[in-house]
Amino acid sequence: MDNGVKHGVPEKLKTACIVVAVYTDKKLSGAAKSLDKASAGYLSKIQKRGDIKGNSEEALLLQDVPGIAADRILLVGCGTEKSTKQSDYISAVKTSISYLKKLNISEAASFLTDIELPETLAWRSQHAAKIALEETYQFQDFKSKPDTLRLKKITWYTSDKKKLSDLEYGCNLGEAIGIGSSFARDLGNTPGNVCHPSYLAGMAKSLAKEYQDISCSVLNEKQITALNMGALLSVAQGSQHPPLLASLEYKGAGAKQKPIVLVGKGITFDTGGNSLKPAGSMVGMKYDMCGSAAVLGTIKAVAELGLPVNVIGILAIAENMPGGTATRPDDIVTSMSGKTIEILNTDAEGRLVLADALTYAARFKPKAVIDIATLTGAAVVALGTHKSALYSNCDELAKQLLEAGTEMDDQAWRMPLGEKYHKQLDSDVADMKNIGGGFAGSITAACFLEKFATDYKWAHLDIAGTASKEKGVDKQVSGRPVPLLVQFLIYQCMSDGQEF
Ligand code: BES
Ligand code: MN
Ligand code: ZN
Repeated sequence: MDNGVKHGVPEKLKTACIVVAVYTDKKLSGAAKSLDKASAGYLSKIQKRGDIKGNSEEALLLQDVPGIAADRILLVGCGTEKSTKQSDYISAVKTSISYLKKLNISEAASFLTDIELPETLAWRSQHAAKIALEETYQFQDFKSKPDTLRLKKITWYTSDKKKLSDLEYGCNLGEAIGIGSSFARDLGNTPGNVCHPSYLAGMAKSLAKEYQDISCSVLNEKQITALNMGALLSVAQGSQHPPLLASLEYKGAGAKQKPIVLVGKGITFDTGGNSLKPAGSMVGMKYDMCGSAAVLGTIKAVAELGLPVNVIGILAIAENMPGGTATRPDDIVTSMSGKTIEILNTDAEGRLVLADALTYAARFKPKAVIDIATLTGAAVVALGTHKSALYSNCDELAKQLLEAGTEMDDQAWRMPLGEKYHKQLDSDVADMKNIGGGFAGSITAACFLEKFATDYKWAHLDIAGTASKEKGVDKQVSGRPVPLLVQFLIYQCMSDGQEF
């Protein structure tokens, strides 16, 4: 799927389908008015009949409208004219794409980007391109007869020639985010028998081959042992696949600029280990490396854009399996930081691999460290699939991440940390336990991480709920929070608002 941008008026366009917005109260958008005029009132007549009310999520297809060069016109509801909101726009674009997919046509011209909104034209085209890629995403790698989508190109229009470069700027941004998040989705959707630890590390290596500004190195089990990463090692010890620690470096700014470090949980499959998950809960756990996938997708998008910022990605990679060589509940391990951990539940493994990766992150002298992890079922209980749980030891960093999420329609919600939650992790025999009991499970997991994020500004995104979305009866990987992270990194490139 390609996105294009153009300047023009709708009535003369020869295309399979023109998409225009209509509002409630029988109001037409500018582009719809032009079509109405050229067709001697065809659209307003239909609107008067009440065949389309104009609410968001509504659409109506017209064929062979007299006076119009295009084969079809798709009217899409966009809410009330005066108070059209961000969310109306986003849902109108989504609705239009879902109709275009069903129409079995290969290209369309959309004037949705031309509607009036408080947001800039660049914002509108950014979202349009991003949504177009998201909604036409397909994962067909394992189908012997792939069913490929007919729709190949959507061109987004503005009627204002002077603004064409704004339209294009936003479209490129949206495309890069879409490319990054599709990459993350492919990785998350690939099952654990294929996407095993060395495959995931290999994907980091292949990004470095693809982009000049990215380099990558992967530590093997021997090197991980030499660094005393006892927590990471303990998670992998029941698996045929040794653990790996991949580091990527994207150099977009001068060597003096401190990097933003992104740390991703990379459990290629989570059985729970000897604290085995029940069969039903284990299904879908191929997605437990979505934190790592988001790090790779974000770095890919940033490299596509050539953003002037330094970014380090660290992937903490292991497979969590049960068995005779696997960690037992009650085992005590020593992490790279020297802190000892009593492992009471081997299914709380994400925090263990992240603990050592967070200690390792300090060597990059980061401006901030953000870890991303499908960490707890409790985050799904608390926030569902709509918002990622955000934790941070720095208010300004948290604020910028929240803002980036809102800007990108990839929301997060800040959750608390604190002494009392930390206490739930106290152990009688070691420095800490790896579980905090039945209550506040997402918070105590974040507190566990906080104990290792000692030397820098840190934030943690628990994406257990947001990394996947319902698709019919199945779950599919969403690519979140790539949009949030890319937007956050764009903020770091702006002259204002980069301090925290
Ligand atoms: N990968 C899971 C988190 C998870 C659980 C994501 C359910 C999506 C749905 C994580 O490793 C895990 O198993 N967490 C445990 C922690 C518990 C043992 C303290 C959980 O949330 O049940
Ligand atoms: Mn687990
Ligand atoms: Zn897990």
